[in-house]
Amino acid sequence: MPIDYRTDSGTLPTEEMRQAMYNARLGDDYYGEDPSVNLLEKTAAEMLGKEAAILTTTATLGNQLALLSQSREGSDIWVEKMSHIATHDYTAFLLPDRRFHTYEAHNGRSVRDDDLAAAKKGTQPLFCIENTHNRHGGTILPLSEMKRIHDQIGQAAGCVHLDGSRLFNASVATGVPINDFAACADTVVLCLCKGLSAPAGAVLAGSRETIRRARRWRAKMGAAMPQAGIIAAPAYVALKKMILRLAQDHLLAKQLAAGLAELPGLFVDLSLVETNIVLVHPAHSLKTAGQIRDELGQAGILVLLLDGETIRFVIDRNIAPQDLPITLEVMQSILKSN
Ligand SMILES: Cc1ncc(COP(=O)(O)O)c(C=O)c1O
Repeated sequence: MPIDYRTDSGTLPTEEMRQAMYNARLGDDYYGEDPSVNLLEKTAAEMLGKEAAILTTTATLGNQLALLSQSREGSDIWVEKMSHIATHDYTAFLLPDRRFHTYEAHNGRSVRDDDLAAAKKGTQPLFCIENTHNRHGGTILPLSEMKRIHDQIGQAAGCVHLDGSRLFNASVATGVPINDFAACADTVVLCLCKGLSAPAGAVLAGSRETIRRARRWRAKMGAAMPQAGIIAAPAYVALKKMILRLAQDHLLAKQLAAGLAELPGLFVDLSLVETNIVLVHPAHSLKTAGQIRDELGQAGILVLLLDGETIRFVIDRNIAPQDLPITLEVMQSILKSN
């Protein structure tokens, strides 16, 4: 079995989740009649302190529905330059009549006054934030910063959308309750299949009216599923049982980062390792990051190359403490060999 650090979406469901799938009470979600979906959506909305929530197949779709439901022709939408929405989604192509702008959050942790001031001048501004921030290395946008953003954008009668795919990681790492983070955004996406280990699914939460619109968009996009309870049932287990275990992922990430940082030929900014992601910047005289990734792969250690220069390790339930010394040993021998 390879040691797979590529993503936290690859976690397989627990036995309890498989049982939940098997026993799920089902109905037609098109008519709001799937009890398992209804329970998941109600639970997620309550946890986030929002009026309503909608199950989506992916966090990508949840983000798209949030943008579609909270903007109109001519709206100004702000996305962080390295965010998932800016780098992976097709929302900007779906919405050519909205004006998209990018801003840069320093290490994913703070937003410049100038960017907020510019956003406030826009038409019905929709300001998107990501917490934790994937491409910045799982860094946390602090609650105080989120409050500031929300207050500022609120002064311009705008909305804040939070891509909180890994918001539970931020909550567990800081001890800040998830609903306190969620209170600083009008809509929130949570991913249930990353560290929380459900086989699929995300939720978008917000006001009743926004979620009603999102439901219509989801149907128009061909992403409604009749008996989605089969997905909602294990996702409910994820929400109820899997949150606190994220602390273990954070601990292993810190240990792995510390071990990698000691190896000559690698640079790791330990101050950025706050949750379950470790970014490694090789500074090797002979080997590129791509070569190191390939050699790790040949030795059964799977990692992702982020931008040609950065190797990303993501920790989830698939990674055990005993995988760390193996990883460090393999990395050390790759760095030593020509
Ligand atoms: C911050 C963030 N948002 C959204 C997504 C997309 O998640 P999904 O694969 O569920 O669409 C990811 C995936 O890694 C992510 O890191």
